[in-house]
Amino acid sequence: MKRRTFITSLAAASASSALQAATQEKKNTDSYSSNEFKVLSPPVVQNPTETSFSVSWMISGMATGWVEWGLTEKLGNTAKPAHHGLMGMSEYALSASITEIPVGSTVFYRVVTMPVRYKNAYSIEKSPPILGEIRQVKLPSASAKTCTLAMVNDTHDHEKTIAALADRINHLDPDAVVWNGDAANTFESPQQTARICLTPGQSPNDPTRGGWASTRPLFFTLGNHDARGISARTLPEVITPWPLDAHDPDGLAPTPYAAGRYCFVKRIGPVAIVCLDTGEDKPDSRDVWGGMAAYEPYREAQREWLLKALKQPEIASAPYLIAFCHIPLRGLKGDNDGTGPSGYCAYSGFGQKLWMKPLIDAGCQMLLSGHTHQHRIDKPNQEFPLYQVVGGGPKKNNAGLVHLNANSKQLKLIIEDLTHKNVGEVTLQPRKNSH
Ligand SMILES: [Fe+2]
Repeated sequence: MKRRTFITSLAAASASSALQAATQEKKNTDSYSSNEFKVLSPPVVQNPTETSFSVSWMISGMATGWVEWGLTEKLGNTAKPAHHGLMGMSEYALSASITEIPVGSTVFYRVVTMPVRYKNAYSIEKSPPILGEIRQVKLPSASAKTCTLAMVNDTHDHEKTIAALADRINHLDPDAVVWNGDAANTFESPQQTARICLTPGQSPNDPTRGGWASTRPLFFTLGNHDARGISARTLPEVITPWPLDAHDPDGLAPTPYAAGRYCFVKRIGPVAIVCLDTGEDKPDSRDVWGGMAAYEPYREAQREWLLKALKQPEIASAPYLIAFCHIPLRGLKGDNDGTGPSGYCAYSGFGQKLWMKPLIDAGCQMLLSGHTHQHRIDKPNQEFPLYQVVGGGPKKNNAGLVHLNANSKQLKLIIEDLTHKNVGEVTLQPRKNSH
């Protein structure tokens, strides 16, 4: 077989198996929707500010839903998602934003799901609401004395790896979980997108229980694979973007419908965190994208955003400044930077060119990435005076967890494998002139 024919058949075979997987995924959830509606995931807390957060959860059929919340287990408030007068309704995932939380509060909440049968505009049948478990979430605060984070990356829908990582995260109990990209291989149906993004850590006995981000927030940074597949454009329905600020540049919002951005800054105790979206691993002009890749202007818009974000007083003044992005910004000798006519990147030449100088100028001490499926630590050097920590891959023998713990004296980061063996570490001292 000629090489070109072979590659074409391979591509066709993988497209057809992806389609089969998507059809099966849809059948699996459809089988519930006819007569046995189910909530299929724990809630996933996202986009925390000092006074707000959002929650998404997966369902098996058409439903509407809302969140009940309060400062005690009595709850008392309701957050009902709606846009232009329509309450949210979906057959795969629901989400809601909880706002106006008093600063520093512990919040109790539960998700409520109401299956509906939408026969026509004047005939909508409702089922009794399904009440979720009451959970407690503490929003990470800028005024905390410490910051603890756990980072996973490149899980690529490997069920056993994700279960092991979720167990470990729940044991370590960090302030937040960073999922640093490549959650998926491709997203082939909205049901698959919801399952991959919302079910990690769920209890094997009850899909609504457990979870790795129902009592702490998830920070999601997109990987190149999270941009692939016919349903990649439904991602904002489950991984909810951060609200836009008035001064944000154009070009950051994933869709006009779900306005928001996936790049963000967050201060937790002594640590300022920057998250950037490195996008795809090849130039926009490559034929494989069918003319539908627009990452180059998107990365430029993120530079414009970054320059302002780094000047925010609580970011500029933090004792530690670290940045997360899926594709590394520093490469090894001979690595493909992904800006040329062949191959794919081992590090993002586009991201490095646009973001590295602003990050270094702002005193960024460490980049945290994934993408290569092999953990490594690059030490600061003259050209790049900051650490780069790269997490592992999706398989038992290359997966791992990166976790860090910071206080006023030091920030200590550990890379561990799935047996919890320490395979690398970095210690940072607070930046000078911080407070
Ligand atoms: Fe990747």
